[in-house]
Amino acid sequence: MRFPVRVLVTTAASLLAIGANASDLAKVRSLAASCANCHGTNGVAQPGMVSLAGQPKDLLLSNLMDFKSGKRPATIMHQLAKGYTDEQLAQMATYFASQKP
Ligand code: HEC
Repeated sequence: MRFPVRVLVTTAASLLAIGANASDLAKVRSLAASCANCHGTNGVAQPGMVSLAGQPKDLLLSNLMDFKSGKRPATIMHQLAKGYTDEQLAQMATYFASQKP
C-alpha cells in the first residue's frame, strides 16, 4: 500500500502547486519529460548535471526566461528555452519546484 499512497500524495501536491486539473498536469508532465534526458527523471540529475527538482520556482523561471532572452549565456538552454511559451516555462518551473530533490 505504501507506494500507491505516496504516488497519490505526490500527484495531489503537484496539482495543488500547479493549481490545475489532471489533464493540465499531464500536459506539464509531458513538457517536463523532455528535460529528463539531461536533467534526469523528474529533474533529479545524475552527478555532474544540475538538478531542477526542488529548486525555488522563481529561480527556475528567472533562469529559463534569461536563457530565452539571451541574458544568460548558455551552450544549449538558450535554444531550448526559445521553444516554449512563457506560460509553459512557468508551468515547468512550478512542476520542477514541487519535485522531491
Ligand atoms: C540537451 C540537454 C538538455 C536538455 C534536454 C535540457 N537542458 Fe536545461 N541545461 C542543460 C545545460 C547544459 C545547462 C547549463 C547551461 C547551458 O550550458 O546551456 C542547463 C541548465 C538549465 C537550467 C539552469 C539551472 C541552474 O540552476 O543554473 C535550467 C532552469 C534548465 N536547464 C531547465 C531545463 C528545462 C525546463 C528543460 C526542459 C524543457 C531543460 N532544461 C532541458 C542541458 C539541457
